[in-house]
Amino acid sequence: MQKKYHIIVYGCQMNISDSERVAAVLEGIRYKQTSNITEADLVVITMCSVRQSAVNRVYGILEKIEKFKKKPVTVLTGCILKKDKKKFSNLFNHVIDIKEISNLSKLLGKNIKSKKDYLDIAPRYSSKFSANIPIMTGCNNFCSYCVVPYARGREISRPAKNIISEIKNSVKRGCKEIWLLGQNVNSYKDKKTNFPKLLRQINKIQGSFWIRFTSSHPKDFSDEVISAMAECKKVTPYLNLPVQSGDDQILKLMNRHYTIKEYKNKIAKLRKKIPGVCLSTDIIVGFPGETKKQFENTAKLFRDVKYDMAYINKYSPRHGTAAAKLKDNVSIIEKKKREKILNEILKITALEKNKKYIGKEVEILNDRTKEYKNILVKNLKPGEFIKVKVTGAKPWRLTAN
Ligand code: 5AD
Ligand code: SF4
Repeated sequence: MQKKYHIIVYGCQMNISDSERVAAVLEGIRYKQTSNITEADLVVITMCSVRQSAVNRVYGILEKIEKFKKKPVTVLTGCILKKDKKKFSNLFNHVIDIKEISNLSKLLGKNIKSKKDYLDIAPRYSSKFSANIPIMTGCNNFCSYCVVPYARGREISRPAKNIISEIKNSVKRGCKEIWLLGQNVNSYKDKKTNFPKLLRQINKIQGSFWIRFTSSHPKDFSDEVISAMAECKKVTPYLNLPVQSGDDQILKLMNRHYTIKEYKNKIAKLRKKIPGVCLSTDIIVGFPGETKKQFENTAKLFRDVKYDMAYINKYSPRHGTAAAKLKDNVSIIEKKKREKILNEILKITALEKNKKYIGKEVEILNDRTKEYKNILVKNLKPGEFIKVKVTGAKPWRLTAN
């Protein structure tokens, strides 16, 4: 009987993409995917370590698995911290670095030649219309609060020719949306190809598809990237530019290497070159020592920039990071309060922005506009670009007939 596997993914789009490669390795040794975890012979968890709450979820799912009648073989991969690796190796059958994932077949007793670079594994895509394409992995930035450089290691860029060939294949099989992924896509480098050059090369690929990318570090978000975004018709007018804080002193403590003035200048340039571009950001509230006044600078930034969307995180100390040595002295109640204040500002600016779409025609793919706005449409044609007229707007969603 063919063995069945089930994958649980926590965290970001990169983890989803990594899980697609895990699935490919397993299908390569004739495992079959099941959506019912209780009947699986093998359960893989692709974990995230960015917040402790994400790590705790792994323990939660393990407890559940222990109660199953059929005990599956368990595998842990994804973003794992060294100190957690030791703990988890007592609880899982296999704990394996994502970069070593092609060795999973050997661990499961099948002697299949492993790929040197895990990004060269042809993935088993989870979507017909949208392809996650990792262009680089790891990070060299060491923002003081972040575990990613420890869990994922240093930056490695993928050869441009491999990226181009994966995209060509995805477009051939009918993909309409290409997501270029990396912890810091703006520092992509393969010989003479930097990120803007890569965008231009991808833009030249024949076919009708949109190019999106995440995530960008403001310090590396250059004029050249803005020009490429503006000139490449396939690149969508949407940008996630994580600012993390609106206060220069906090940014320094975060080791972010830009000031708010520089950040705002980049946004002004972007908006000038791409009118109507949609902008989202990531924020951390309650970083160690963040005073009310410093937080007020973040609130001011929100009012000034008028984001379309923001992902607001409450600071949580992470083992081994520089910020973990600082006292986590903003109470959870205060963090929640600050999160709420930012959400209220965001709700107003997002609604203001969304209302401007009413009566206008927008191009959509599934439940998103080209600008990455959520949209609810009655007669949706999955996987097809369609034009619809916007009839209503809420802070987090547009509606169309
Ligand atoms: N605490 C809270 N949020 C964090 N992030 C990263 N590390 C932490 C942390 N220690 C957030 C950042 C990042 C997003 C992916 O997660 O905002 O952009
Ligand atoms: Fe973490 Fe900073 Fe790297 Fe982003 S750029 S992954 S926040 S260290």
